Amino acid sequence: MTQSSQTTAFDSQETSLDVVTLRARFPILAKRIRGNPFVYFDNAATTQKPQSVIDALNRYYTDQNANIHRGIHYLSEQATEIYEEARRRAARFINAPSERQVIFVRGTTEGINLIAQTFGRQKVNSGDEILISTLEHHSNIVPWQLLAEERGASIKVIPIDDRGVLDFDAYVKMLNDRTRIVALSHVSNAIGTVVPIAEMCKEAHRKGIPVVVDGAQSAPHMKVDMQALDCDFFVFSGHKMFGPTGIGIVYGKDKWLCDMPPYEGGGGMIQSVTFEKTTFLDYPGRFEAGTPNIAGAIVLATAMDFIESVGLDNIAAYENGLLDYATEIFSQIDGLRIIGTAPDKAAVLSFILNDVHPHDISTFLDQDGIAIRAGHHCAQPLMKRFGVTGTARASFSIYNTKEEIDLVAESLQKIVNFFKR
Ligand code: ALA
Repeated sequence: MTQSSQTTAFDSQETSLDVVTLRARFPILAKRIRGNPFVYFDNAATTQKPQSVIDALNRYYTDQNANIHRGIHYLSEQATEIYEEARRRAARFINAPSERQVIFVRGTTEGINLIAQTFGRQKVNSGDEILISTLEHHSNIVPWQLLAEERGASIKVIPIDDRGVLDFDAYVKMLNDRTRIVALSHVSNAIGTVVPIAEMCKEAHRKGIPVVVDGAQSAPHMKVDMQALDCDFFVFSGHKMFGPTGIGIVYGKDKWLCDMPPYEGGGGMIQSVTFEKTTFLDYPGRFEAGTPNIAGAIVLATAMDFIESVGLDNIAAYENGLLDYATEIFSQIDGLRIIGTAPDKAAVLSFILNDVHPHDISTFLDQDGIAIRAGHHCAQPLMKRFGVTGTARASFSIYNTKEEIDLVAESLQKIVNFFKR
């Protein structure tokens, strides 16, 4: 097995990222697990948090906590201003034309449900089709199934090839006059395929069909520019991009948001209420019923500052270097098969190892202080497409190193040796 040279400080020709300094900003990475250095390769599930994010959360509850959009008092007005500044920050992060197009939700799952239950109900009727792909996470399947069942519509699925690449020609042929919505992952959480969203939007828009993008796995790893992608909706989660859990964003085009009915009813989203009739705020407030995750939104803005201080181009280049290296090193392990070999992949390496159950792989690695994810990754139809019930998945972030990949490869080799005995 090839071993890299000391690579905690990354080769300058690959990226300008200084990983040693960067790792020091993530206190949890100093942990030891079962006496071993902690190797965290479960970043597609959730990333670790830098000190600036931890501090921002602490600062909010120490110094800034109040409810927003309600109180006529100093702290409430201040919290409202910081919350709305976070919305402006998020709009800049995704290059949305206006902060009004940024709706705070709990995460990607809630965001897609919001779109399905509001926009989807407006658009989809009996006999209509909703087009998704084989790559989808359950959260971009099930909300559409619920809608399709309710409306008497059907779900159509764009096929992929054996590498995990979406069949673009099949997609174009599947767009027809019954297609009401296209809903696609930007990056597959389970196998890492990057989907050419801008091109897919162009094709859908030729036929006037709106496109919803699940950006949970792309927003942390690459620049996501709403105006360049030209998608109709884009949804992502804070906790996969160094922010806290329980906060995410729905971006939508004005032309859709202005007509969409509320998702949930309650305080904070109304203009006036009588027992006979309620009128609602304009968007985005109309979609944020109840006290939102104020701290989450504010701290997500800090996470976005962190990402931009590192630079999304640096992040993408660095993580692609890790992915290439891991692909090369893991491929040399006897009996290891990589699931998902698309030419354009991001930060995710899924594999199986002989007939060792993925849960057992994860348990073995855990003994060495290594965290990966094992199972179906909430993408059971995709697993079925590859003829497996699950995989082991290593997913990378900017604080990972080639040295860690070598450690994981050594542990995987131990598993191979164990089962050979
Ligand atoms: N969707 C997250 C993952 O893929 C939880 O791990």
